[in-house]
Amino acid sequence: MEIVIESRAGTCPFTCDPGEKILFAGLRAGLTLPYDCATGTCGMCKARVRTGTVEVIWPEAPALAKLQRDKGDILMCQSRATSDCVLRVPANVVISESGPLPRHGTGRVQKVERLTGDVMHFELALPVPMTFHAGQFVVLTAPGINGARAYSMVNFAPSTSTLELVIKKKPGGGLSEWLFEADRTGLELGVFGPLGRATFRPNEDHDFVCIAGGSGIAGILSILEHATEAGHFQKHNGRVFFGVRTLRDGFYLERFSRLVTRSQGALEVVLALSHEEVEAPLHPQFSTIQIAHGFVHDVANERLEADCSAVTSFVAGPPPMVDGAIRVLIGHGVPSTQIRYDKFG
Ligand code: FES
Repeated sequence: MEIVIESRAGTCPFTCDPGEKILFAGLRAGLTLPYDCATGTCGMCKARVRTGTVEVIWPEAPALAKLQRDKGDILMCQSRATSDCVLRVPANVVISESGPLPRHGTGRVQKVERLTGDVMHFELALPVPMTFHAGQFVVLTAPGINGARAYSMVNFAPSTSTLELVIKKKPGGGLSEWLFEADRTGLELGVFGPLGRATFRPNEDHDFVCIAGGSGIAGILSILEHATEAGHFQKHNGRVFFGVRTLRDGFYLERFSRLVTRSQGALEVVLALSHEEVEAPLHPQFSTIQIAHGFVHDVANERLEADCSAVTSFVAGPPPMVDGAIRVLIGHGVPSTQIRYDKFG
C-alpha cells in the first residue's frame, strides 16, 4: 500500500507491506512520525485519514478512547492500511538521515532468569545484529498471543546479536504472562526496533539524574553502561533513584554496585522502598547502594538540590510515577527539553 503523510512540514510518501502497522512502515522508511509507546497506550501516534481505508488491529487499545474516531482519527501504531491512504499528522514529519532505523526481525529466547517473584531477565539471540542507542526499546510479539509489548534493552553495545531484556509479570498482561507461565527458552519472538527517543548521547556535557520504577530501570541501566564506557563519569556526576516496593524487590543491584565502584564516587544509586522501612542507610548486601523510604519521586524530591537546571534527566516506569517524577524535576529547575522519559503502562 502507498501511504502519504501530510504534515506541517509537507508531504512524505512511503510503502506499507501487507498487514504491516502504518507506524512501523513509516519509521522503517525513516520518517520522523510522532510516537511514544508504540503499543496503543499513549495516543502520540494519532493521525486523521483523509482518503483511503484502514483497519484497527487492537480495538481495545487504551488510547483509542481519546480519539475522535467519527472524524477519521486513528492510531498509526494500531492500524494497517487496507487501501492506499493519505493521512494528516499534527506534527512536523520529515525524512530523517539519522539512524539507526528500526526493522522487523526475530529473536530466540535464551538465558531466562527469575530476578524476583515477579521480575524476569531474559535474552534474545538475534540472527542479524542490531545497532541501538542506550535507552531504546523493541516491540515483541509471540506466536498465538494478541498484542505486542515494548521492552527496553538492559545492555548496551554498538552492535549486538544479544538483547538483554527485563519483564515484569502483569496479570492479564498477554506476552508477560505467556513468558512467565512456562519455560520459553528456544522459542522465536517477533522483534521490531530499535525504537524510542529517550536516549543517551555520549557527547552531551551534563551531569545526569535518572528516576525509574520497577522494570523501567532497564533502559536506565543501558544508559549507565554506555555512559561508563564513554568515560562520562570521569567528568560528570550521575544520580539514580530506583523505586521498588521492598528490599526483596530490588534487582540488578550487583550491576549497579559495579558501576558505582567504577565511577569512583561520581555515580550515586538510591534504592527507594515504597512499602518497607529499613533503618540502615546502606543496602545490607551492596554497601555502595543507599536505601531510602518512600515513593521514588518523593525520595528524589527530598534529595535533589534546589537548582538542577544544568542536568539531563531520564525517567522510566509506570505512567503515574513518570508524571510525578517529571513534576519533581521541573520543580527543581530541570528544563523540560532536558527531561527524557518512557512510560510503560
Ligand atoms: Fe501509538 Fe502510543 S505510539 S498509542
